[in-house]
Order: sequence, then C-alpha cells, then structure tokens
Amino acid sequence: MKEMDTKRVPVLAIDGPGGAGKGTVSRQLADSLGWHYLDSGALYRILALAATRKGIDLNDESSLAALAPELDIRFGTGSDDSVWLDGEEVSAHIRHEDAGAMASVVAALPAVRQALLLRQRAFRQPPGLVADGRDMGTVVFTDAAQKVFLTASAQERADRRYKQLIAKGIDVNIGDLLTDISARDARDSSRAVAPLRPADDATVIDTTHLSIAQVVDQVLTLVTS
Ligand code: DC
Repeated sequence: MKEMDTKRVPVLAIDGPGGAGKGTVSRQLADSLGWHYLDSGALYRILALAATRKGIDLNDESSLAALAPELDIRFGTGSDDSVWLDGEEVSAHIRHEDAGAMASVVAALPAVRQALLLRQRAFRQPPGLVADGRDMGTVVFTDAAQKVFLTASAQERADRRYKQLIAKGIDVNIGDLLTDISARDARDSSRAVAPLRPADDATVIDTTHLSIAQVVDQVLTLVTS
C-alpha cells in the first residue's frame, strides 16, 4: 500500500514512560479494535541487542543507523507477543532490564531514530494501528486520530515492574529498579531529538490508581466517541 493510501488508516498513538502500562493496554486495545499493534520500543531493544552481538559500540551512530534497516525482525501476531531477530526468538533477551537501558542509549541518537522511522510507519495497515512508544503522537504518526499519553508515578512503575519480575522468579531490588526507571525517564525526556512528552493534542491519563481494565475502557471511550 502506498504511503498516501495508508494515511487513511486510523492510528491510535499510545505514548508514555516505561512501566505506565502502555504495552499491556495497547495490546488489549489492538485486540478489542481488531487493529494491528506496533511495539516501537521492541525495535530499539532489538537494534541494541543486534549491535551488541556484532560488537558495534552503542554510541556509534552511523554504524547503528546502517544496521537498523538490515535487520530481519518479525513479531508474533494477536496474543503471540514473541519477537524474532534473524530467525531467532529473542523475546526474553529484549525484555531484560539491561536491554531496556541499552535501547534508551541508542534511542537518543538522531540517525537511529531516522533509520527506524519508515519501519515504524510500515505498520500502518488496514483496518487500523495501535502504536505504542515514546514519540508515536509527536513524530511518527503526527496525524493519528487519537493520541493518548499514559503516565504513572515512578514509585508505582517500579512497584509494578518489581511484581512482574518477582512473578517470573527474577530476584530484584526495588530501590535499584526505582533508580533505573528514574535514570531512563531522565534520558528519554532530556534527549534533543523526539524527547518523551505528550503531544499537544494528546489526552493524558495518570494510571497510578487505575487498573489495566479501567485504562483500556477510558481509551476505548475516547476512540469510539
Ligand atoms: O517501551 P520500551 O521500554 O520497550 O522502550 C525501550 C527504550 O526505547 C526506552 O528507554 C526509550 C526508547 N524508545 C524510544 O525512544 N522511542 C520509542 N518510540 C520507543 C522506545
């Protein structure tokens, strides 16, 4: 489909800091609406993983930008949230805390963001797209019909992450998690290109005291009203 045609495909942009519930909420929204789902953070995570494996320095902007279009990346569809890099399932690798921190480093590089732009826009296919990230509403899909910015306090986000990791049998320290989350927020919000911020026309929802189901309902009401 040509870009001009895909412009007519509706996009729901869901942005916000890590741990605000974007991933779970966006997947459920895509499921309810029967739309495609873009996990843009996974692209940055995969690029960081691939670079590390190839011995590319995470600050080597031009090598990273050259690598980005080369990668063979595949996502599972529907309830299958697996991610594949060059034919290998890398879901567990990229969900690791370290992969998130490395993704945040490569994501600060302008040429890397540019190199991933078309890849992200290619996900805009009928009947619609739920796009999850940091700059979906401000950069990648500025014409999205609906833009939502999900936030939650850093403490709440650390608590949620702690519970997820403990449930998976991974032993973590909540103080370390809070420090990591705050450092990542600072890096994502202060970078020169596409910093984390709500689009002017975004609806901001603070999820600190809301369940996933309540957030999904609120967003669905926005989309269908
Ligand atoms: O959403 P996530 O935790 O998977 O994102 C990992 C990192 O990638 C995050 O620190 C910031 C970056 N990112 C970004 O800069 N822009 C996006 N659209 C998505 C993620």
